Amino acid sequence: MQQINIIDAKNHVDEKVKIGAWLTNKRSSGKIAFLQLRDGTEFFQGVVVKSKVSEETFELAKELKQETSMWLTGIIHEDSRSKFGYELEVETIEVIGESHDYPITPKEHGVDYLMDHRHLWLRSSRPHATMVIRNELIRATYEFYNQEGFIKIDAPILTGSAPEGTTDLFHTEYFGRDAYLSQSGQLYEEAGAMAFNKVFSFGPTFRAEKSKTRRHLIEFWMIEPEMAFMHQEESLEIQERYIAFLVQNVIDHCEGALNTLGRDIETLKKYTKLPYPRISYDEAIELLKANDFDVEWGVDFGSPEETFLADYFDQPVFVLNYPKAIKPFYMKPHPTREDVVICADLLAPEGYGEIIGGSERATDYNYLKDQIVAAGLNPEEYSWYLDLRKYGSVPHSGFGLGLERAVTWITGEDHVREAIPFPRLLNRIYP
Ligand code: 4AD
Ligand code: MG
Repeated sequence: MQQINIIDAKNHVDEKVKIGAWLTNKRSSGKIAFLQLRDGTEFFQGVVVKSKVSEETFELAKELKQETSMWLTGIIHEDSRSKFGYELEVETIEVIGESHDYPITPKEHGVDYLMDHRHLWLRSSRPHATMVIRNELIRATYEFYNQEGFIKIDAPILTGSAPEGTTDLFHTEYFGRDAYLSQSGQLYEEAGAMAFNKVFSFGPTFRAEKSKTRRHLIEFWMIEPEMAFMHQEESLEIQERYIAFLVQNVIDHCEGALNTLGRDIETLKKYTKLPYPRISYDEAIELLKANDFDVEWGVDFGSPEETFLADYFDQPVFVLNYPKAIKPFYMKPHPTREDVVICADLLAPEGYGEIIGGSERATDYNYLKDQIVAAGLNPEEYSWYLDLRKYGSVPHSGFGLGLERAVTWITGEDHVREAIPFPRLLNRIYP
């Protein structure tokens, strides 16, 4: 008898199999017990018919408690009534680990309660579906960049540099010296691009941001591609192809998870249509003013502005060339305007806001050094970074996708905390 995972049930119809599973829920009458089972790969139903099993097995089935783990044997049947399409006609049950008073019951629980039990909550179908989609985004990311000729260059997590400003740095001590947890791998990816042409990183990044919004995590994962000999226009084309590829792969490979989450696939299909609209920051300000937003040129956009802009186009939208004063030091200055830089944020529709931030990078040694000083940073800490402009500087561009923002948008969840297994939030480092 073969031991299988639930997800492979379709390949074993009418066969006798062995499955290790936990009980998620149960319903029974005098003659039949329905066991809702999960093994981590999928959820399905086991049916225990009194007349077909031993008396002990039927009595045991009726007594099982939520999250009891067990070995089951039985025959896989097609079950057109269930969402999954298959079920197990149970023959034997052997309890492995008992479970009593499982804290997460089928009734509704508050968010804080669930987050306190995140280590258990991950077993439930909604977080499970969200993590399956997160995994698909990671898988598809590697596929995309591999097929586009990128190589993965890992950036360090302990660093002395602060590419995204000093206000939200996580400080730590490094054998008597100051160090920070990485805010972004970008500067190291720039060095990587000069060595390998097209590179990307994927790793955890940290922002001690005192913002308590549904878009901010303290620890989040970022995908950061960086391309040598590339101007911003070409980088935008890679960005939109990448996002459309992610959405398409989720549609193709995660139908069950999307259904569990109630995410409408037709809505997602809209986001595979390219190109995405592009508007300048200047145009965005005009559009917002014309729609009664109280904004002046020079401000950064908050959530209401970003939501309006992407909803206006009903597509992810690139907002180009923000004011220099509100963007980091490394962005390329505009060739004819002093007040803006060559950059773009990609805003996701349906209220999800910025999912990508990127730019062309400044290439001139003296300009960049001045910017580093103007940002209040110590140029000595950045002398390795300035070397990249000293020895064969080339036009180059890159961007960063916040994985959890992308997961939240694609799954349709309402808070970024749902998009990471163990979220780190302003008031949460447990579990
Ligand atoms: O716009 P950001 O700060 O850009 C950078 O870090 C660049 N160095 C990236 C690059 O060009 N290589 O962050 C990039 C993305 C944002 O668009 C957003 O999706 C995500 O990272 N992000 C966050 N996600 C969750 N929680 C936070 N606190 C985030 N801050 C940024
Ligand atoms: Mg940004």
